[in-house]
Amino acid sequence: LSSIQVDISGVAEGTQLTVKWLGKPVFIRHRTAEEIERARADDGAALIDTQSQNANKPDTSAADQNRTLDEEGRWLVQIGVCTHLGCVPIGDGAGDFGGWFCPCHGSHYDASGRIRRGPAPQNLHIPVASFTDDTTIKLG
Ligand code: FES
Repeated sequence: LSSIQVDISGVAEGTQLTVKWLGKPVFIRHRTAEEIERARADDGAALIDTQSQNANKPDTSAADQNRTLDEEGRWLVQIGVCTHLGCVPIGDGAGDFGGWFCPCHGSHYDASGRIRRGPAPQNLHIPVASFTDDTTIKLG
């Protein structure tokens, strides 16, 4: 499997970087304290998909802590492909749940990338990823 290293030193809080990996967009989001708080507050909501869909934590629940790369929840790394039919969702707080929105058929994802409304069956998938140092994320 091919892996790539991504320099995240320039990704300011409240923004995201999109990189291409294995032919797919990968969203690397640096969440704000407000986003983290909102995502964690939604852990108790009625979630459509109750699995984390995190390749790094198989068979875990969709709690926000199971979806982020770091304990504090600042970094959320996701494959930028809608789990409905594969469009690329719009980010930066889009949609009714302040996360991502897929305009193809109207799927709303929350600040944790969890599907909250619309036809998509699963949360945005999280690829194999890890920190190699404070400012570098390795995908794969
Ligand atoms: Fe995203 Fe259909 S492909 S809602």
